[in-house]
Amino acid sequence: MKGVILAGGSGTRLHPMTLPVSKQLLPVGDKPMIYYPLAVLMLAGVRDILLISTPHDVPHFRRLLGDGSQLGIAIGYAVQERPAGIAEALVIGAEHIGAGPVALVLGDNIFHGAELQRVLRENARDVQGCVLFGYRVPDPERHGVAEVDERGRLVSLEEKPAVPRANRAVTGLYFYDGEVVDIAKNVRPSARGELEITDVNRVYMERGRARVVDLGRGFAWLDTGTPESLLQAGLYVRMLEERQGLKVACIEEVALRMGFIDGDACYRLGAAMGNSQYGRYVMDLTEGSLR
Ligand code: G1P
Repeated sequence: MKGVILAGGSGTRLHPMTLPVSKQLLPVGDKPMIYYPLAVLMLAGVRDILLISTPHDVPHFRRLLGDGSQLGIAIGYAVQERPAGIAEALVIGAEHIGAGPVALVLGDNIFHGAELQRVLRENARDVQGCVLFGYRVPDPERHGVAEVDERGRLVSLEEKPAVPRANRAVTGLYFYDGEVVDIAKNVRPSARGELEITDVNRVYMERGRARVVDLGRGFAWLDTGTPESLLQAGLYVRMLEERQGLKVACIEEVALRMGFIDGDACYRLGAAMGNSQYGRYVMDLTEGSLR
């Protein structure tokens, strides 16, 4: 399965922090936000990834992540000239996606849970139609909102409805089969001139080919859109990491555990950042994590 990360937008709710730098490069705990969705794709077994960002920010992402080979994956880059909707990522990424399937993740979505890898891998296998991931929220009107039938099939989908029909938000992780590029190319732009991901998902729903997997108890889906939620996400990560002595979304660790790189390569990645606690953690990974 191919992967696409969309890290666009102007992050206006985080001004002035996002005036010089992309929101998805801001720190959450001890690492850049983009590490979290990147780790999600890697945990799903995805090794060929296209990262889409603004013309100004692509060089910054490239400086951070390079071509991905140090992690045993491939990362390519593409530009979204202006924030023209999430679904535009599927059009920009058409060549990369090819005949699919593809996992699309938003660069500001943070998922955590012990079962995450199992859920990702199970659903990444043999994608038919689309798979959306639902999460119960107190403020569904701020999200895409999904209603499902008893078999988990999507029956209604609305983008930021004034009066939500359900409390299930559609998170920013989407698995699609090979039809998605055609579908995305054919959705009509919204009144704001954007290609809405919800319209793509609705096409799958109308064809009876959209499934929702609920991330229930034991999963965290964290918001990072405002200074408060960004700080809270950082505190959540720090609390877990301090308590467990294990990091969340340490991409070097994920690469090692997935077998994308060996212990020596992992150690070298850590040593290159050895002056930081993060770097020392990466170095220690190869020396056995449970002592
Ligand atoms: C987008 C989607 C929305 C989804 C959300 C998840 O909204 O349009 O359906 O629930 O991402 O992060 P945005 O946050 O870009 O307004």
